[in-house]
Amino acid sequence: MSNALKEYLSLCQKRVENALDARLPNVNILPQRLHEAMRYSTLDGGKRMRPVLTYSTGKALGLDMELLDGVACAVEFIHVYSLIHDDLPAMDDDDLRRGKVTSHIAFDEATAILAGDALQALAFETLANDLTMKATPRQRLQMITRLTKASGSQGMVGGQAIDLDSVGKHISLPELENMHIHKTGALIRASVNMAALAKIDINAEMAQKLDHYAKCIGLSFQVKDDILDEESDTVTLGKTQGKDQNNDKPTYPALLGLARAKQKAQELHEQALVSLNNFGSEADLLRDLSLYIIQRDH
Ligand code: IPE
Ligand code: IPE
Ligand code: MG
Ligand code: MG
Ligand code: MG
Repeated sequence: MSNALKEYLSLCQKRVENALDARLPNVNILPQRLHEAMRYSTLDGGKRMRPVLTYSTGKALGLDMELLDGVACAVEFIHVYSLIHDDLPAMDDDDLRRGKVTSHIAFDEATAILAGDALQALAFETLANDLTMKATPRQRLQMITRLTKASGSQGMVGGQAIDLDSVGKHISLPELENMHIHKTGALIRASVNMAALAKIDINAEMAQKLDHYAKCIGLSFQVKDDILDEESDTVTLGKTQGKDQNNDKPTYPALLGLARAKQKAQELHEQALVSLNNFGSEADLLRDLSLYIIQRDH
């Protein structure tokens, strides 16, 4: 990882940790156990890749980080909700997440479901009201529309439905790609798109290039997630290694083998870089992030 990226990741991670903490309901207010569960899964964990992508896109567009805290939190709230629900017994049935026991084990299933539900609502409340964003009502509406589409049945939730429906089945490569683009790609794409929406006078071509970049890394992110499930280990991952095979999930390595899955990730990284050709050094973090996504070890 480049030194510039290492420093920037750490800066963004600290920044978003504080921003999330400030926006999550306090454990002293009712219902306390629900608020505890929301804070348990959201705080102190995860790579924060989606917030980092939001801030890095902002940097490529010359936007102040402060304008993007609300967006970064909104996308992370949706992501954490998706992780809590993804780990439930009815879905992937995982007991480890971000190096801690999963929400439904630390609390109980009903609380985990509700914590996810409440985080989803909090994401949209943040986009609608967050004062630090200084966005116009029109911008807020565009961001909310973007995030609802990326989260709902045409986005992450739709991808999760396809994922569950594909268990134990042989699906084709285009079907696998479609599943990944939805379950993981959509939210990553929205993390970039919402930062672009924060820039009032963004040039349409630039927004389109950034969108293409985000589409490539959104897919490479899940391809790499599949690869790591196969070749990493539980301690490094902070989640149980080998679950995809155990749960009989279709994945890139299962369909193509590890070598071709890695080649696919590399090709997507190269396409992501091409999308940024019209940008100068202000987009170097986005370039470094694309490489980090396919080289990370967790
Ligand atoms: C894991 O996402 C789930 C997927 C969508 C692949 P991350 O790998 O971003 O998980 P955290 O946020 O770092 O824990
Ligand atoms: C998760 O895909 C996608 C979402 C949570 C939306 P995975 O099921 O592969 O994620 P991990 O491996 O459990 O983090
Ligand atoms: Mg899953
Ligand atoms: Mg899972
Ligand atoms: Mg996985």
